[in-house]
Amino acid sequence: MSSPFATTRSFASDNFAGVHPAVMANLQAANLGHAVAYGGDVFTSDAEEQFERIFGAGTKAFFVFGGTGGNVFALSSLCGPGDAVLCSQWSHLHIDETGAPERAGIKLLAVPSADAKVTTKDIERVAGDLGVMHHAQPRVVSLTQPTELGTLYTPEEIEQLCLCAHEHGLLVHMDGARIANATAALGGIASVRSFTVDAGVDVLTFGGTKNGLMYGEAVLYFPQGAARAHTYKDFSQENALRALRYAPYARKQTTQLPSKMRFVSAQFAAVLNNDLWVQLGASANEASASLFEAVHAITSLGLTHSPGVNSLYPTVAPEHADQLREVSFFWDWDTTQHRVRWMTSWDTEQSDVGAFAEAVYRIVT
Ligand SMILES: Cc1ncc(COP(=O)(O)O)c(C=O)c1O
Repeated sequence: MSSPFATTRSFASDNFAGVHPAVMANLQAANLGHAVAYGGDVFTSDAEEQFERIFGAGTKAFFVFGGTGGNVFALSSLCGPGDAVLCSQWSHLHIDETGAPERAGIKLLAVPSADAKVTTKDIERVAGDLGVMHHAQPRVVSLTQPTELGTLYTPEEIEQLCLCAHEHGLLVHMDGARIANATAALGGIASVRSFTVDAGVDVLTFGGTKNGLMYGEAVLYFPQGAARAHTYKDFSQENALRALRYAPYARKQTTQLPSKMRFVSAQFAAVLNNDLWVQLGASANEASASLFEAVHAITSLGLTHSPGVNSLYPTVAPEHADQLREVSFFWDWDTTQHRVRWMTSWDTEQSDVGAFAEAVYRIVT
């Protein structure tokens, strides 16, 4: 089997990809001379302003090292003792964070879901535990957009989920590790507020690493949303505003405060500028759509519809998967069903898709 650490572009994950040249250039610019530590630098104020432009005045951005850390920081600011977070059984929080939220004292209530989405019924069910001393108290609903199965919530679905959560006194966190792909899929830059701040999301982990950054994510708070929402129960509105007050301390306590912050924020400034981040997400999505078009006629793959974002989950016999990995590496997804994941990145080119599709035909059919 070829090494997962191959230098050719693989179909393994968007975090196998390198750094976009504009990001590298801004890192070099940030490396000239000294700058105030902990965010008092011009790169950080530039990126903060860009986030306010995109999500509206009042948006507060906190730059962090990574996705797991960003999620744990966000949830820590939203939760107190005995609190719990509702999420899907497929969520990165639940499956891929090695219990980091639990280590921070946050109980996860992972609910079964065929498409990796949480429903209003799930919220209503867990809300029944509110006020029961013997049960962890549901405080937050965490949605992943796009989900870990490559599905998307519509803006309307997110609005309904936020309304339901707020009515029950819960707040809403969004894990947007791939928010660029969701934004590109749902209508581009003009759409992003509709499924985040305008839908009622309280806190968003905004991904960078999977979309051309070397490393780094931003946790965004939307107090402007909390201020205008009518549906919040009083205490949930207060909790949303209190989470923002706690955020600087929660970030430090969860070890996500970069002292040389400019090296994270300069990366964001580079991709937020001219909405490059959306173009990169669109590029990854288009590569997945091309791969689907090229191979979906092979019925054994079970690929019935074009991907919403940048991943496909075909069925491939293990011996064929091993041969294909000699061409280009990818990960297994569900070995019990011989499902694998093919994921494209901001830098996947049509020639990569063509060569891979040709290998799929040669090996699988
Ligand atoms: C949905 C989701 N959330 C968060 C992350 C962030 O993970 P990391 O801690 O590796 O940056 C990932 C990365 O795979 C992810 O897929």
